[in-house]
Amino acid sequence: MKAAITATAKYLPDSILSNRDLEKMLDTTDEWIVTRTGISERRILRDPEKATSYMCGEIARQLLEKRKIDASEIELIIVATMTPDMLFPSTACLTQGIIGAVNAWAFDLNAACSGFVFALNTAARFIESGVHKKVMVIGADKMSSILDFTDRSTAILFGDGGGGVILEPADEDGFGLLDSRLYSDGKTGQEHLLMPAGGSLHPASHETIDKKMHYIHQDGRQVFKSAVISMADVAEEIMKRNNLQADDIAYLVPHQANQRIISATAERMGVDQSKVISNVSRFGNTTAGTIPICLAELDEQGKLHHGSNLILVSFGAGYTWGGIYLKWQ
Ligand code: ACO
Repeated sequence: MKAAITATAKYLPDSILSNRDLEKMLDTTDEWIVTRTGISERRILRDPEKATSYMCGEIARQLLEKRKIDASEIELIIVATMTPDMLFPSTACLTQGIIGAVNAWAFDLNAACSGFVFALNTAARFIESGVHKKVMVIGADKMSSILDFTDRSTAILFGDGGGGVILEPADEDGFGLLDSRLYSDGKTGQEHLLMPAGGSLHPASHETIDKKMHYIHQDGRQVFKSAVISMADVAEEIMKRNNLQADDIAYLVPHQANQRIISATAERMGVDQSKVISNVSRFGNTTAGTIPICLAELDEQGKLHHGSNLILVSFGAGYTWGGIYLKWQ
């Protein structure tokens, strides 16, 4: 038994932060940001009372509406995020509370930008084993909560938002999540992309705040190099394992970090740019949110058809990376 996506949804805050706005805050230009990243604007969740669980709640409500089911039918909720409302309780539990999914169990999964791919793969195992019939998988991040808006090398890259899906047993053989390859490299990854404080190693203190240790720190060049290689490698591996030619693929849905990383992945796969989903110019990098947002947009536009072959690929902090092959039901 395979797991198939039966509903998609997304949430993006209304407030736009454009490159022009950033020009007023930082020593940067629209031209530099567009050329290096492809990003023109991103969304920011400005209400200080609202955090990642708010976005997850909005996504979850839409998913239930679209699937026309009651919250009580959801058996498991997995939220992929690296910006939980708080360390505990989990944002998945908060989401469960918001929608009243009284029969579900819920947990967060942190694989940074690969969070949704890791969570979708995890959720699929519960469906395939017959343990659960309706699982909600959400990827969402309020990146503005961990961005240093005086650091031009990171502040320009990220935005707030998220998306999600409902996963159920596929109706027919040969449809749904057909293959996946997931990887981590904690040795190389940890020094290049991290938020140093806020955990048990460096709990919050005057010193951690003074040293700006509660923000994203990254070596952009190193991350860029690893992202290009790993995303292209895993995409190629998934194609080979499943005897897929470029023409067989309806859409490549890559993590949205940087247009140059997206294009390099597509090039290696030999997939025409028209089949490569990119909304990084409008939303920036929403971390665990990027892939489910892309899926929801494709779905809204009526572009997902019975039998469409999709390849999802991601790369993020850890390092973590992975690919999923799914045939749309
Ligand atoms: N505006 C103007 N100049 C800038 C800016 C900015 N916003 N940021 C950096 N610069 C300057 C640098 O100071 C540097 O100047 P110098 O040569 O005088 O030292 C110059 O521009 C070039 O900097 P680089 O870091 O070499 O620029 P690069 O071409 O590598 O682009 C970028 C930087 C966009 C961060 C790129 O490395 C990148 O996209 N890396 C991937 C990072 C990423 O996406 N991480 C997200 C998490 S992981 C993931 O999702 C894949």
